[in-house]
Amino acid sequence: MRTPIVAGNWKLNGSRQSARDLAAGVATGAPKSGVEVVVCPVSLHIPEVAAAVEGSVVALGGQNACENESGAFTAEVSSSMLAEFGCRYVIIGHSERRSLYGESDADCAARGKAVIDAGLTPMFCIGETLEQRESEETIAVLHRQLNALVEAAGDDVFGKCVIAYEPVWAIGTGKTASPGQAQAVHEAIRQYVAGLDGTAASSVRIIYGGSVKPDNAAELFAQPDIDGGLIGGAALKAEDFLAICNAAAEK
Ligand code: 13P
Repeated sequence: MRTPIVAGNWKLNGSRQSARDLAAGVATGAPKSGVEVVVCPVSLHIPEVAAAVEGSVVALGGQNACENESGAFTAEVSSSMLAEFGCRYVIIGHSERRSLYGESDADCAARGKAVIDAGLTPMFCIGETLEQRESEETIAVLHRQLNALVEAAGDDVFGKCVIAYEPVWAIGTGKTASPGQAQAVHEAIRQYVAGLDGTAASSVRIIYGGSVKPDNAAELFAQPDIDGGLIGGAALKAEDFLAICNAAAEK
């Protein structure tokens, strides 16, 4: 049995005070079992958020990490630095990093490997654009993104990461993949993993991201291969995020 995981990607939002308040609200209301709850604030807010979730079931994650441990890499943060502040997860390869900041498949894979090497778990994001979906390239795109990770981190990488399927056309648009559409892709991703590592195929958590809201979460999470979600906009309101966490806990 896979424990579902629901992670809030807070992106570039909030102040010290609002991050603290949101984290405290999530920590107070998070389900005590049946789901793993993670919050991923802006790096600068991590110390505040770490203090607010201390002693609760809520885990902490970073939004990205450098492929290098230290050195002349201006503005980057390393996985060991995130670990020092209590992070257990790191989002890697988010489509905003890929499209707005030019992180290639190989860059994302190298970052993912560095997260694993530091003893943390990457939530490795993959997903197709609308154009790619319409030209029936979805599976080829996902395979290319996953192949890069396997090349960098080895055939056994899926025993050490979470995969986040985030169709680019569903992020922040209010357009959600239908449960059936998402399930079909999640199943294909699990088959891909099975081709490399049968054990990991049944244990790896494949979470869905893209306009998940309290009113569509339960239906998405009811799909057999959807093991939770990576939540953007709805993670910025404790009440909405907790409703989504509860939907996963009831899976
Ligand atoms: P939204 O939930 O705002 O669509 O964002 C999804 C996302 O990008 C999570 O990483």
